Amino acid sequence: MSKVTVVGAGNVGATCANVLVTQGIADEVVLIDIKPGFSEGKAMDIMQTANILHLDSRLTGVTNDYAMTAGSDMVVITSGVPRKPGMTREELIGVNAGIVKSVTESVLAHSPNAVILCVANPMDTMTYLIHKISGLPKNRIIGMGGALDSARFKYYLTQALKANANDVDGMVIGGHGDTTMIPLKRFATWRGVPVAEYLAAEELDKVAADTMVGGATLTGLLGTSAWIAPGAAAAQCVAAVLGDQKKVITCSALLEGEYGEKDLCIGVPCLLGRNGIEKIVELPLNDEEKALFKKSAEAVHKTNAALPC
Ligand code: 2OP
Repeated sequence: MSKVTVVGAGNVGATCANVLVTQGIADEVVLIDIKPGFSEGKAMDIMQTANILHLDSRLTGVTNDYAMTAGSDMVVITSGVPRKPGMTREELIGVNAGIVKSVTESVLAHSPNAVILCVANPMDTMTYLIHKISGLPKNRIIGMGGALDSARFKYYLTQALKANANDVDGMVIGGHGDTTMIPLKRFATWRGVPVAEYLAAEELDKVAADTMVGGATLTGLLGTSAWIAPGAAAAQCVAAVLGDQKKVITCSALLEGEYGEKDLCIGVPCLLGRNGIEKIVELPLNDEEKALFKKSAEAVHKTNAALPC
């Protein structure tokens, strides 16, 4: 019997809850929001697919009643405002920091043993904020960004290779920002073969550039931040933890010397299992990749410095 709380019934939260129940990732899901009736409506809409899609999982929507979230194994924090066209994720820090702080305190009061997955932006900084205010062990706080950025990298690789998405592998490390993420071109493969064997350097550079502005491109097209891949990427991380899958997914993790960095959360490959981040995988980066990672970490530190606490 597994229970997951998703905080925030906006597009990302509702999509995450939908994937969690339609794929049977959690037995019980609670969707909570401050807007009266909103999460109830989203939950009702999703659960009206139960008979159509033969769902066994249960989803309940509640308005701000954290007692209903008690005993959650995992909590996904999607609350906060999304970016609008032309905005960076970093610009959201002021308003989202206050929301993430109060949500973290409320969920931990009722689910002290939960693993927390942070989706709110600026994601690396919000993940770091959760560390600062909760004092939880580092394995129990995961930031989702790299899972999404890596999915977008694999999408653009799939397009360039004209391949099947399931045959393509790739990772994006670094910060979850338009200029801070690092698509690792050298490690990307098509059925185990480095993609550089099939794509010219300029094609691969374009894939990396498109990946980095993947979120901004969608924000421009949709008028608000994307939600389907973000919600699904969050659900993928939940599945890896609840199912003790030992999958390596790029997530924002607190570094304490790994990759030569400390006192920040940033995207690195993480082995996810029932204890959350069970291992940070150290990649054999070359000098160029190491320099990019250092620059990315400096930018994330700079955003962290703007935290109100
Ligand atoms: C994105 O990249 C929501 O930050 C998220 O779409």
